Amino acid sequence: MKEEKKIIVPFFYRDKKARILVADDDRFYLQIYSDLLTDLGHEFITAENGLEAIEKLRAYQPDLLIIDVVMPGMTGFEVTKRLKQDPLTMHIPVLIVTSLSDRDSKIKGLLNGADELLSKPIDETEFRVRVKNILKVKKYEDFLVEHGRILEGEVMDKSAQLEKAFEKIRHGYIETVYRLTLAAEYRDKETGGHIKRISLYSQLMARYLGLNEQIVEAIFFASPMHDVGKIGIPDSILLKKGGHTKEESDIMKTHTIIGADILRNSDSEILKAAQDIALTHHESWNGSGYPKGLKGAEIPISGRIVNLVDIYDALRSRRPYKEPFSHEAACKILDNAEERFDPEVFKGYKDCSDEFRRLFDENQQEYFNF
Ligand SMILES: [Fe+2]
Repeated sequence: MKEEKKIIVPFFYRDKKARILVADDDRFYLQIYSDLLTDLGHEFITAENGLEAIEKLRAYQPDLLIIDVVMPGMTGFEVTKRLKQDPLTMHIPVLIVTSLSDRDSKIKGLLNGADELLSKPIDETEFRVRVKNILKVKKYEDFLVEHGRILEGEVMDKSAQLEKAFEKIRHGYIETVYRLTLAAEYRDKETGGHIKRISLYSQLMARYLGLNEQIVEAIFFASPMHDVGKIGIPDSILLKKGGHTKEESDIMKTHTIIGADILRNSDSEILKAAQDIALTHHESWNGSGYPKGLKGAEIPISGRIVNLVDIYDALRSRRPYKEPFSHEAACKILDNAEERFDPEVFKGYKDCSDEFRRLFDENQQEYFNF
C-alpha cells in the first residue's frame, strides 16, 4: 500500500511543542509519561509493543522516541536498532527507559543507538531534564539539516544564474566576432553567407577528422576570421579589377600576417585558433603556399582545413573577375590541385562532397542567425 506523504513542519520552526512517541506495554507507565509530557506541553502518541512502535515511527515522524526495553514481540533495543538503520527514521533520537540496572544492559542500549538511558522507577526531575536536553539537541540538528538544504537550494539557484549569464556573455562574444569579421570584409563584398559557410564546412571537416568537440567548436567560430587581415590592405589593391602586379600580389599576401597580428596574444581558445588560421590558410601541403611556404604537418590542422574549404567556396562564388563554378566544375579544379592539400582533409572533402554542395546551396546571402 502506498504510504501517504505528510508534510511535517521541522521541529525548530515549531515554538516549544515537540512530537513524541512513547512505547511501553505497561499502561501504568504510559499514564506517567502522559502526565509528564502533557505537563511539559508536548504533543504525543503511544504504542504498546515494538511492532506498533516501528509502524508509528515511520508515519508520525516524532522528534523523540521514549521506549521501554522489555516488551512483547520486540525489545526496545531491537526497535532502536531498526530505527537507526532506516533512512526515514534514523534522525529520531531515542530515550530508552529500563528496569534493567546492570551495566551490560545500559551498554547494549547505547550500542544499539540510544541517545539517553533512564532507569525505572522514573525520577520525574531527571525525566524532564533528559527530555529537554535531547529535544534541544534535536532542534539544533533539524536546524542544521534545514539550513543546509536551504543553502544547497541557494547555491543551485546561483549556479543556474551564473550559467545563464555565462551563456549570454559567450553569445555576445561570438556575435561580436562575427560582426567584426563582416566589418573587416565589408569592402571586399564578402557576405554573411560566405562567413557562415566557411564555419559549416570547417566544422564538417574537423568532425570528419575526429578532432575533439572543443577543437571542433574553436575551428567553427575561428574559421570565418581567416581573412580579417584584409582590413590592412589598401583599397587600390584589394578592390582592383583585373590582375595584380607582382608587387600588389605580394601586398595582398600580407593579409595573412596582418590577420595573425590582429589576433595574437589572446587567452581565448577561439582567437588562438583564429590566429593560426589567419596565418596559415594559404599554406599548401606541398610547400607551394604563403606566407612561409610551410609543408605538411608544419601547417596546423585548422589551417589545412580552412585552406581547402576557402578555395571550394571561392570557386563556387561569384567574383568581380569570374562567374561562379558549379559544384562539379569546382570539384574538377580541386582534383587537379590535389597535391596542395592534406591527403586526409582532401579525402574528407571527397567523402563529404554532397554535404559541401548542400551547405553551399542552403546558405546563400544570410547573416548568421545567433
Ligand atoms: Fe585569405
